[in-house]
Amino acid sequence: MESYGCQMNVHDAENVAGMLEGLGYEPATSVDDADLVVILTCCVRRTAEDRAWGRVGELARLKQRRPGVVLALGGCMTQQPGVVEEARQRAPHLDLIFGTHNLYRLPELLALVRPGSTVAEVWQEDGSLPPPMPVRRGAGVRAWITIMYGCDNYCSYCIVPYVRGRQRSRPADEVAREAEEAVRDGYREIFLLGQNVNAYGCDLPGAPDFADLLRRLDRIPGLDRLRYTTSHPRDFTDAMIEAVAECPTVCEHFHLPVQAGSDRILALMNRGYTRDQYLDLLRRIRARVPDCSVTTDIIVGFPGETDEEFADTLDLVWKAQFDAAFTFMFSPRRGTPAASLPGQLPVAEKKRRLQELNRLQNSISLEKNRQLLGAEVEVLVEGISERDPGQLTGRTRTGKVTVFPGPAGWAGKVVVVRVEKALTWTLHGRAVGGEVRVDAGAEAVPDPQGETPG
Ligand code: SAH
Ligand code: SF4
Ligand code: F3S
Repeated sequence: MESYGCQMNVHDAENVAGMLEGLGYEPATSVDDADLVVILTCCVRRTAEDRAWGRVGELARLKQRRPGVVLALGGCMTQQPGVVEEARQRAPHLDLIFGTHNLYRLPELLALVRPGSTVAEVWQEDGSLPPPMPVRRGAGVRAWITIMYGCDNYCSYCIVPYVRGRQRSRPADEVAREAEEAVRDGYREIFLLGQNVNAYGCDLPGAPDFADLLRRLDRIPGLDRLRYTTSHPRDFTDAMIEAVAECPTVCEHFHLPVQAGSDRILALMNRGYTRDQYLDLLRRIRARVPDCSVTTDIIVGFPGETDEEFADTLDLVWKAQFDAAFTFMFSPRRGTPAASLPGQLPVAEKKRRLQELNRLQNSISLEKNRQLLGAEVEVLVEGISERDPGQLTGRTRTGKVTVFPGPAGWAGKVVVVRVEKALTWTLHGRAVGGEVRVDAGAEAVPDPQGETPG
């Protein structure tokens, strides 16, 4: 299994793994000893698509060496018009091509695979929810749960609504059942997934909203942390801020993609808010949830973006004081309105703007992290740090990666860590308290295994 792009694909891969397990497959240790290779592609930017084609090209050599290996290509890229035909031409070594809407058909499709030909099935979206799929979740503390498929926003630059279809929310009962199951299986953090979670439920009978869903899931016994992505600033209501503030498990982290700081560009992007409305939302959030973190996504070099309009983005970034930002150069996507707008900028100029933006944001991120020096933060330990096997890594409730020494047995526990060093993207520190459970009144309690941190 290889998945590119966002958490949707990461979680789709868990569903694929679940289905394959049902067919008797086991995970391979490397692509070289796999009988089946499934790739879930992304096409949100040109670079993602190039990476997918590059990977498909590399797999031609694997197929030459081992003609028996089955190669399957799915995900968002194959869902675009014309890509199946293109793949048949460019990559005749593929055995199977499928889309996002028929993921659950993978077992049936694999049964149709025959040597020397390519099976292809890509559906248009028909407004229905996929049937429940088996899931093989990753090891670790986090369980991904889809609360809605698709997106109805049609931001003018974005391909997602075309490749993931219209917004379809899952009934709250189903979401709750899956979340309860994951917590029973030992997952301590539930991560809710949707392209615009704040619009959750408006397409369901009785229109339950996202605030209702958070309150309902918050009551699951044994759950430590509830997270969600992605929020749309236009749809983040005061009732939702209130729910985040009141629910003990809901983490104090807001990922609120702003995309641009100029009102003219925001309107061209079809985002549905102005910079002042966005900054006002941040003020309301920070007033109600002090010490929260805020992260964002920003696109530079949207068609026609002037120097002054880019300066508006820098100015907004300065005023907003984000903890971190994912920053991108505008990438024209076939079939989206922004791809055919006049005033497309040269790559060199987009790069220059990206670097300037990153310089500013990195200095803000570092300063924000430095403000935490000496503070005690709750870290849900994910395991041994890949970079430094002598240390553990985990995240604070605000989503900051924190590295500190401790025994591997602490994986899956919430530990209180004093921050001793702050870098741009990570905090470093030392454990000072035992395990914290939300349902134990958020107090430090002795470690059940007797290993008292610090
Ligand atoms: N639904 C989410 C995630 C969308 S994709 C949201 O609305 O935030 C993640 C990010 O990719 C977007 O927030 C945007 O910043 C970026 N992105 C999407 N399309 C893009 C494009 N054509 N060029 C550059 N960046 C893009
Ligand atoms: Fe794309 Fe906008 Fe939907 Fe996000 S909200 S997935 S950026 S169309
Ligand atoms: Fe990419 Fe599809 Fe996600 S286009 S960003 S994998 S929804």
